[in-house]
Amino acid sequence: GAPVQADISKLEPGQRITVEWRGRPVWIVKRTQDMIERTENFDPARLVDPDSTAPQQPPYVTGPLRSIRPDISVLIGICTHLGCSPLFRPEPDDVDMAAWPGGYFCPCHGSYFDLSGRVFRNVPAPSNLEVPPYRFETDDIIIVG
Ligand code: FES
Repeated sequence: GAPVQADISKLEPGQRITVEWRGRPVWIVKRTQDMIERTENFDPARLVDPDSTAPQQPPYVTGPLRSIRPDISVLIGICTHLGCSPLFRPEPDDVDMAAWPGGYFCPCHGSYFDLSGRVFRNVPAPSNLEVPPYRFETDDIIIVG
């Protein structure tokens, strides 16, 4: 499939838009500073592959944020278990921040991912959500694919 263009000029911090690329949903989230810090500071011991060593992201996407720009996250919105679409749950759990830093929850069989799409331990999904190839054409235009 052809690359797809996403305009993020109207995307507010904390919001998500979805574009379609090769028949799959691609989520683009503009992370707030708080969302960035929650992700960076989350306990890596609770994640299956905190450094994303498995081949599910382009080489230019590294670190806990798994993104080119810290504020912009780009992920394929398909659960790595059996392909359901996880729900966007960006707010941390007020009762116990350590339990839930905000991210994605797949209701099909109960898999949890953080705001970078990194999968939690002890859930059915085996690996992190995929990061598609992408680049910034301008500050406001992302090319996916
Ligand atoms: Fe997401 Fe099974 S498809 S947990």
